[in-house]
Amino acid sequence: MNPLIAVATADGATNAVPWFITSNGPIREARFVKSNGVADGSVHALFVITGRADAGRCDISQPDFLAAGDAMTAQGGNSNIVFRIPTPLFGAGLIEAIPDATILANVNANATAKARAGVRGHANAVQGGNVNLSANDGTITRFGWKAQNKSLLMFAGEAYNVEMGVSNQLFPQERDETPNCQGGSATPNDTSNFSASPATAVLSDIEAFANFTRLLAPLAPAPATASTQNGEAQFKNVGCSLCHTPTLMTGTAIASGSATVPSVALSNRPANLYSDLLVHHMGTGLADGITQGSAGPDEFRTAPLWGVGQRVYFLHDGRTSDIVQAIEDHASPGSEANQVIQSFNALSDAPQWGGAKLVRPRAPLSDAIRQARAHVVHQQVGVEVCRPVRESRARYGSRAARDGGAGHQSRGVTERAADILELHLPVLRRGGRGCGGEWGEQAGEIGERLDVG
Ligand code: HEC
Repeated sequence: MNPLIAVATADGATNAVPWFITSNGPIREARFVKSNGVADGSVHALFVITGRADAGRCDISQPDFLAAGDAMTAQGGNSNIVFRIPTPLFGAGLIEAIPDATILANVNANATAKARAGVRGHANAVQGGNVNLSANDGTITRFGWKAQNKSLLMFAGEAYNVEMGVSNQLFPQERDETPNCQGGSATPNDTSNFSASPATAVLSDIEAFANFTRLLAPLAPAPATASTQNGEAQFKNVGCSLCHTPTLMTGTAIASGSATVPSVALSNRPANLYSDLLVHHMGTGLADGITQGSAGPDEFRTAPLWGVGQRVYFLHDGRTSDIVQAIEDHASPGSEANQVIQSFNALSDAPQWGGAKLVRPRAPLSDAIRQARAHVVHQQVGVEVCRPVRESRARYGSRAARDGGAGHQSRGVTERAADILELHLPVLRRGGRGCGGEWGEQAGEIGERLDVG
């Protein structure tokens, strides 16, 4: 059940459920291509808190998302509104630990095959490179559907403010500063707290949440079969891997918890992500008209395919649940993938071959949850980094409602991480094992756990 439906009217709120949110459809956030005639591109709140018992005299209006289109695919409605679903977080810590030099070296790998297939990798730099670069420090950005976010801390900070309405040290201002709608809280809502103990409680919520996501292991592939091995070969033969690079190595990475000891889980590991982390022109069929950083209107980051077998909705706006459809949708005028998809379609048994089989059958989600739970049972760190979400819910519930809870992280929270976090809570309540000064040591050890299963 899509949790956004309940948010619409929680505690007396009077929001209409937007047409593109359905009980069995994906969580979506809405961006407006233009507002008042000028380019916009930003996320608009789905809901407002007006009417809620805890909203006082707050009186603001819910945005208008009409005209409605197809509720499941989100296509065909108001053409000024475009959608994104959340990106998965499992394995994100490894993605963060890939050096820029590795991404750049991979641009030049298989150059002849890429040139022959028309796959370019992208010249979209703010500062003269050929990947999406951070406007802040000129390094490569890599999270989000357009690779627009630099780091997991940035991703968490943005999601806290944009998707949950919790201003923080990275994003100190409220997105809506209407005086009666601040719930009496000073800004930023979330900061670090030097007088807290144990030591981990000093962390701000966004830091703790970033730490949590950093250590979510990627899903392990199901054991290989003849079919998946064939699929893997075809995946390379037809050229999927020209964009969906099977493996990039991480560098040496320090995880939070120790200032000096590299994380075993994150350092010098193969990240089997099936992405080059570049943005590519994907044609008129997928274009959303939005520019972010140096990713233009029809450009998207090669979606990492690890764990894709556990996904229900595909492509940036969740337009389909059919993986073969998702592959065929790569082709449209202007797409760098056109030739590859032509080769894919030319395979005699296209829908059956491993394209679907290779990426589809992965370890069941319950394994991932079990694995995450094992972290918690064995590693108090996991418990401790769960604190922010639980506390955030209590502290900032109404703010979260105002801003809609509609984005990538909140879907991460509701659909995946929250399931996991909910599983953590009983452990916390039962045992309440403390963290304290052990945190540093634990963070090193958690690394090894991440490779289990
Ligand atoms: C030119 C680069 C490129 C090539 C070639 C390519 N892809 Fe993709 N792929 C992408 C991009 C970019 C996205 C994200 C598009 C979006 O969300 O709008 C994507 C998304 C996907 C998705 C959906 C993942 C998700 O998280 O929703 C699947 C599945 C997929 N690709 C499989 C394939 C297969 C199989 C092939 C080969 C037949 C292939 N791709 C070839 C760039 C490419």
